This record gives sequence, structure tokens and C-alpha cells, in this order.
Amino acid sequence: MASVPGSGRDSFTSKFGIIAATAGSAIGLGNIWRFPYVAGENGGGAFLFLYLAFVMAIGIVVMLSEFVIGRSAQRNTVGAFLKLAPGKPWFLIGIMGVSAAFMILAFYAAVAGWTLEYLYQSVVNGFAGKSPDELGEMFTAFREGSWRPILWFLIFMVLTASIVISGIQKGIEKYTKILMPLLLVILVILSIRSLTLPGAGEGLRFLFKPDFSKITSRAVLVALGQALFSLSIGMGTLITYGSYIRKNDNLATTVISVSLADTFIAILAGVAIFPAVFAFGIDPAAEEGLVFITLPGIFQKMAGGCIFAPLFFILLAVAALTSTISMLEVVVAYFVEELKMTRRKATIISAVLISILGLFAAGSWGWFENMTLLGNNVFGLLNFTTINILLPVGGFFIVLFVGWFMGKKAVKAEISNEGSLKARFRIVFVFLVRFIAPIAIAIVFLNGLGIIRF
Ligand code: TRP
Repeated sequence: MASVPGSGRDSFTSKFGIIAATAGSAIGLGNIWRFPYVAGENGGGAFLFLYLAFVMAIGIVVMLSEFVIGRSAQRNTVGAFLKLAPGKPWFLIGIMGVSAAFMILAFYAAVAGWTLEYLYQSVVNGFAGKSPDELGEMFTAFREGSWRPILWFLIFMVLTASIVISGIQKGIEKYTKILMPLLLVILVILSIRSLTLPGAGEGLRFLFKPDFSKITSRAVLVALGQALFSLSIGMGTLITYGSYIRKNDNLATTVISVSLADTFIAILAGVAIFPAVFAFGIDPAAEEGLVFITLPGIFQKMAGGCIFAPLFFILLAVAALTSTISMLEVVVAYFVEELKMTRRKATIISAVLISILGLFAAGSWGWFENMTLLGNNVFGLLNFTTINILLPVGGFFIVLFVGWFMGKKAVKAEISNEGSLKARFRIVFVFLVRFIAPIAIAIVFLNGLGIIRF
């Protein structure tokens, strides 16, 4: 087993493995479902410009900070803070991260379960002959139907756990190295199909044409929120993955490759979806229904749709799976290292506990529809508290920790691999991590809670 010498820990064994696993975490439902829609609605090319600026000025900074913490400590999210700041309350950030992973996974895997239902429907030709309204009803009926969303959710949890249980090299690295290239191939095929539809240009214009009049202060915040969520930052996923990166791998170039890959896939997803939406004259503003209602309608009308529909839902399921394993790994690494469980036991226990919480998320429109707080179902509550509260708070403290607490020497040692890399960008990084990133995150957070309003 390859491990960091002396640590006895499992680690990634190749640069490609690190990038596949980390990009696998970042690239998910956030890219394929959410990005195209928010970009289209918030100014197209102008939004894209803002999004790129945030990825570069903030996303990359938080991601590198997580890697620095993780690789320096060689521990899980909680253990990393315990080790780097003994006797200080910083480990609470780690506890928050583990809780966030627990909660995000519960609702994210519920949506991932929907992708399996839709994969199944596309294979058995379940969309055939349905009008857009009927497809909408089909989606509603599925989510309200008692056992199906729950069954698919549980299947997805089992899939996730069965990869994580095998460890970093033999599980996560091995599968993401196969799944990520597969995802790219499917997405390229779908984009080509979409671009060759008559009228595709309209969709590209919708996605790319900069409309600066749509850049309101809200769009700015949406762009920042999307950048954070899409890069999987703020809850220690990348502290955990960073702890498996070998000491001689270059953290900064890894961060750049992963951010580029994540952004590229988000844009490519837009290229696969919007030309088709416009070619068939469908309203692009279908939000959560875009993937589960609008697209099945399009596949039905499109030549070759019966092949492209299953391909698309395989793509979604694969993207979701490489993200769910990164969330489960956060919890498992904590259980193994801090609670001294075997990986097997840790995986089973955490997957079972998360599945119990997830039952309520998956059943939020069915069995548990009456379980609400302030008008939100369990799914909505988990979604809101994690993305709008836990992630920004986590990201904020992570950059504060690296910028102000960890010490220049320790940070320099990680980004320069103990001085063997020049890392001339360090001055810029220090400035961003100390000032720009925390201030920007604080603004988004306070605005999200309505404490300050733009
Ligand atoms: N980035 C993933 C997506 O775009 C979701 C995700 C995975 C995530 N791990 C995370 C989001 C950790 C925040 C934190 O779908």
C-alpha cells in the first residue's frame, strides 16, 4: 500500500488519481444541473465572467487552503485541526465539516437516487408519448410515490459505501480514474449531438452572450455561491482528500487543474443542454425540472433520443457518485482515525446513520411530507442549512486559519513542498487568503441570511 512514509496511511498513488478523485468530488449535480440554469438566468456570458473571477480569486484560495491543512496534518478534518491547533477550539470547524458532510450526503444522495429512477425510465422507454405536462406529473408522482425514491436513494448509498469501504487506492482512486473519463466522453457525445441540432445557435447565445444588464448584486452573490458549492469547498472534503496527497505532489497545480476541469465541465454541460432546449423551443427557465422534466421531453423528440437519454442519466449518476463518495469519505476518515474503527466498520456505521437521515430527505414529498419546519420539508431544511450556512462558515474559518493562524512557515512548507518548488505566487496567495477570501465569503453569508441586503 502506498502511503506517506512513516504515517502508515493510505494515499493516492498518482497525479492523475488525485485529480480524478478531486475533480470527481467537485464535478457533480452542481455542474450538470445547476450551473447551466443559473448561468443562463443571470446574464449568460457576463455571469460566466463573474463565476470565473470568483473561482480564481476565492475558490482556488479556499481549495488550496484545504489542501494545505490536510496534507500538513495528514489527518481527517477533525484530527487535522486537533493536530495543528492543539487545545484550541479550531477542531469545531472539523466537527462542523463532518456534520455538513453527513447532512449534504443525506439530501444529495436522494437526488442522485432520482437520476437512477430516470435512468431506469429511459431504458424501459417510460417517457414515450408523454406531453411536457405529463412529464411534469410523472416527476411529481414519482417523488410523492412512497417507496420508489427511498429505494433508489438506498441503492445509491450502497453504491457509494461499496466504493468507500475499499479505501483510497483500491476504492476511491481506482473508480474515479475510470468514472471521470467516462463522464467526459459521455458529455462530449451529448454536446456534439446537441450542437448538431438545427437551431442550436440560439442556445449557445443564451448561455454565452454577455448580458451585463442582468448583473445585479444578486447575480454576483449567486455566482460566488455557485463557485463554492461547485468546487466542493467549505466542509473539509478537500482537507480529507489533501491528507492523501503525497508530499512530493504539487498542490497548487493540482488545484488549478481541478478548478479548470470543474469549470470546463460546467460549461460543457451548458453546451449539451441549452442548444437542445432551444432547438425544441422549450422554456429554458425550468429550474429543478430542467433535468427531470424538460430533458426527457427533448430526448423523445430528438433523433437517437432513446440512446442519448440513458447516456445522459448515466452521466448524471456518475457525476453524483464521484461526489457522494467524497462526502462519505469525510465521515469515514473521521470515524477511522478519531474513533479508532476499522474502515469497514466505519463505512457501514456511517452509511447506515446517513441513510436513516436520508430516508426523511428522500421521502420529503411522500411518506414524510408532513414533517416540516417553517414550511420547509426535511430536504429543503438540509439543503438550506448546509449550503447557505455551514459551507460559507466553514470556508470562512478555513481561510482565516490558513491566513492568520497556521503560521507562514508551515503554509510555505506545504505550497513549496519544503522549499523544493519556487512557488512565487505565494505573495498573491497570502494576500487573497488573509483579506479578499474571508471578506468576500462574509459578504455572501450575511447577505444570504438577510443580515445585510444589497
Ligand atoms: N461539488 C459537488 C457538485 O458540484 C457537490 C459536492 C461534493 C460538495 N462535495 C461537496 C459541495 C462538499 C460542497 C462541499 O455537485
